[in-house]
Amino acid sequence: MPNKKAPKRIAPPPVDALTKGEAAADLARLAAEIAHHDRLYYQSDAPEISDAEYDALRKRNEAIEARFPALVREDSPSAKVGAPASETFAKVRHRVPMLSLGNAFDDEEVAEFDARVRRFLSFKVDDTLVFTAEPKIDGLSISIRYENGTLVEAATRGDGAEGENVTANVRTIREIPHKLKGGKIPEVCEVRGEIYMSHADFTALNASQTEGGGKVFANPRNAAAGSLRQLDSTITAARPLRFFAYAWGEVSAMPADTQHGMVEAFAKWGLPVNPLMRLCASAEEMLAFYRQIGERRSSLGYDIDGVVYKVNRLDLQARLGFVSRSPRWAIAHKFPAEQATTVLRDIEIQVGRTGSLTPVAKLEPVTVGGVVVSNATLHNEDEIARKDVRIGDTVVVQRAGDVIPQIVRVIEEKRPKGTKPFAFPKVCPVCGSHAVREADDDPSAGGVVRRCTGGLICAAQAKERLKHFVSRLAFDIEGLGEEKIEAFFEEGLIRRPADIFTLEARDRASENPLAKRKGFGKKSVENLFRAIDARRTIGLERFIFALGIRHVGETTAKDLARAFRTMDAFRTAAEAAARAGKESEAYNDIDDIEGIGETVVDALVDFFSEPHNVEAFDDLLAHVTVAPYERPQTVASPVTGKTVVFTGKLERVGRSEAKAQAERLGAKVAGSVSAKTDFLIAGADAGSKLTNAQKLGVKVLTEDEWLALIGG
Ligand code: IVH
Repeated sequence: MPNKKAPKRIAPPPVDALTKGEAAADLARLAAEIAHHDRLYYQSDAPEISDAEYDALRKRNEAIEARFPALVREDSPSAKVGAPASETFAKVRHRVPMLSLGNAFDDEEVAEFDARVRRFLSFKVDDTLVFTAEPKIDGLSISIRYENGTLVEAATRGDGAEGENVTANVRTIREIPHKLKGGKIPEVCEVRGEIYMSHADFTALNASQTEGGGKVFANPRNAAAGSLRQLDSTITAARPLRFFAYAWGEVSAMPADTQHGMVEAFAKWGLPVNPLMRLCASAEEMLAFYRQIGERRSSLGYDIDGVVYKVNRLDLQARLGFVSRSPRWAIAHKFPAEQATTVLRDIEIQVGRTGSLTPVAKLEPVTVGGVVVSNATLHNEDEIARKDVRIGDTVVVQRAGDVIPQIVRVIEEKRPKGTKPFAFPKVCPVCGSHAVREADDDPSAGGVVRRCTGGLICAAQAKERLKHFVSRLAFDIEGLGEEKIEAFFEEGLIRRPADIFTLEARDRASENPLAKRKGFGKKSVENLFRAIDARRTIGLERFIFALGIRHVGETTAKDLARAFRTMDAFRTAAEAAARAGKESEAYNDIDDIEGIGETVVDALVDFFSEPHNVEAFDDLLAHVTVAPYERPQTVASPVTGKTVVFTGKLERVGRSEAKAQAERLGAKVAGSVSAKTDFLIAGADAGSKLTNAQKLGVKVLTEDEWLALIGG
């Protein structure tokens, strides 16, 4: 189904090009967007976007989180699965959470998965590591609880923690036994798997729905979900639902010690299992399986959207554990993105908060994988030159492992006569200031960025900075969103942060007050002014973040706030560093703060060396009181809140596993030893970190002492 919203979506910059602030803002946007689509998908069975696009959103979220781990939000989509259960069914709390899977989109990511698992387990190259490989069924997951072999309860996944009680409906599915058969059936056994509809049954159902004037389903997945979530189970009974068992929740006595063995036990007990599951002993074998299934995909008779690989040994699965919403021991290898060709109408240049000029392809709208696409990213000027993308070209667009569609290539044979290579602007399209070429913030991306030098003189930058200023992690002013900022800016009502705090006074004196305008009510204007008042006192960390200084994201702002505690101390230090410059004592004082490096100090120096920034800053302080930073309370436990460093070769567990374990227990794992380190855990052949720790008087633990301390 075409998505009406898609054409409006503006291409965000590539993840590698994000500043911390942009990343935080993007994570906030992604959290909201993913939550929205989760609700549509899980509660209304009416997705607006295709699975590939949804995956792309999640992938972008994950990529940003991987680059900026400190920015991971409390409401991060990566920590949640699906949407909260809808209100119509009784709730069931999953005794073992129902998780989701991480994705791989190409061979390399599969090889990396194999390598990652091996690294985590400290396996040697020739140690055998066996995986199961099986189709990824495109249906909806279900947990079916058997007690003493009898089906007692069935629940949808919901948000992973709590699902819907659909027991009556699941009992109508012929393939799902009400009683398990055979021997050695555990007292409690929660069988998990996928409910789906076959192609033939889907076609027949839609035909009869059309005839009877009922709802026609977009695809078999929606048909299965819609059929299962009927309050009247006689309707479900009339729908041809099927099931494959592939996982489990609570099991009182495990019938096997491998993934494969578990599925075999399910089959023996009379549960349907997918006949295509195989064992693979290497990434090559997994990839061969993937290709073989890909070839058979269209003749399987049911929808699959990839294959799933799982570590076969359950003891290894237990050691590998989970990262937020997905197991480390499994991955979904998705089938490739869909592509389409269309015409490039124009290339638009967007100006970001820090002045970066981002080219966006404006496309003749085209449906790609069920979604109408009219914008695509072109990343930067080098990318345009490399692909020689010209206005008027016919291009291949793809929606895949990125939130925004990409231009894959130009179809040169279709190039109209007289086109010219795209001339990337050398001046800012908004303010006309010089735009200079710079290396991208992240040198590993190898990218370049052209940046407008207009600063606050540039309307685009000023607007983006204002949007940042009022955003959720900054001043978080309710009722003053991006659209209002745009409108108020255009009108000249708000040009600088301080203007926000004088808006009410000016509005009272105005001949055309906001309350009298279309689109505003008296109440909403009052609410806006109250929301602004509520922020006249603000915490130092939010204040620093709100300034929108390059490289100063939420975490860095917090690090600075923690170190300086008060506004005065922060300002005095930053101004001193700006005056004295690099290598000065004032500069080094800031550089010495935990978590702060030269890039940040340079950015602070730049910011405070710019008179219009200082002026805007002073004006703001005339209206806002900045509250000192308050340290969060820490919980008492042996390692919670402690900073630990691992060094040398650990014998019992791999380095990653040890780190993950420490983090699970609330410790902060640092890369190097400083006076702030609480424990250095030194394995065999420890080097300079050990000497350093001894010098600094940091407590050194052996691996065994560490394990004793954490109780395992
Ligand atoms: S294993 C803890 N195996 O894909 C891991 N999931 O994207 C549990 N799915 O929530 C999942 N076929 O609904 C697994 N053979 C398969 C699957 C499969 C489909 C679904 C399942 C899961 C989602 C993750």
